[in-house]
Amino acid sequence: MERRARRNETLAEVGALAAGIAHELRNGLNPISGSVECLQRELKLEGENAQLMELITTECSRLNGFVTDLLSYSRDRDLVIENVDIEDHLADLCEELSRDPRFGRVTVRVERGGPSGSVQADRVQIRQVWLNLATNALEAMDGHGTLTVGWGEGESGQAVVEFIDDGPGVATEDLSRVGQPFFTTKQGGTGLGLAIAQRIVERHGGTRERRAQGRGGAGDAPRRR
Ligand SMILES: Nc1ncnc2c1ncn2[C@@H]1O[C@H](COP(=O)(O)OP(=O)(O)O)[C@@H](O)[C@H]1O
Ligand SMILES: [Mg+2]
Repeated sequence: MERRARRNETLAEVGALAAGIAHELRNGLNPISGSVECLQRELKLEGENAQLMELITTECSRLNGFVTDLLSYSRDRDLVIENVDIEDHLADLCEELSRDPRFGRVTVRVERGGPSGSVQADRVQIRQVWLNLATNALEAMDGHGTLTVGWGEGESGQAVVEFIDDGPGVATEDLSRVGQPFFTTKQGGTGLGLAIAQRIVERHGGTRERRAQGRGGAGDAPRRR
């Protein structure tokens, strides 16, 4: 008990430190991205110079993503609980993702596994959970395949949402580390997506499970009570 209290205290301290660093980084990054955008419009660069400018933009946007993730991970925002219609909320998200050029020619399919229903949840934060899991699934498929988003009711009446992809799944040697903060196998990954999702789901009183699929994909199922 005492050990757990001490661990929570340490986590809170690390969180506060990370939030402070993330803030400073963001303060510096915003004017850099703004200026680069401006220069890119004004200067008509070509060849190697254009490539260098492109590199600055890409890296700025990667760092911005990292800072955003770090801020979400290190700070728990208060939950604003309301009635969220699962079907509508998921359909909106999937529609958006299926049009996202970053993921190439993937198909995103929503499969309803039960009567339509709603959950008591923080609309913005629960979307973040679904977005993080769906993004991982889409990234794993490398530009082609199908992401199936299923939802329905679990055995004890809780809402269950599943993200099943056609990708290669998680390598056996990575299984124990997947979901730990900062563990990533992606170039430019932050390794915070699953940790953030996990934390939000737990704060809603739910759980997250990972399932290995027969056809090699990975399934992620956050359950909500
Ligand atoms: N659907 C999936 N298929 C295969 N690997 C996955 C999937 N979801 C997560 N992973 C693994 O878990 C790691 C951590 O994911 P995450 O916490 O979202 O961080 P990131 O996406 O930045 O790497 C990923 O780098 C990847 O190795
Ligand atoms: Mg991710």
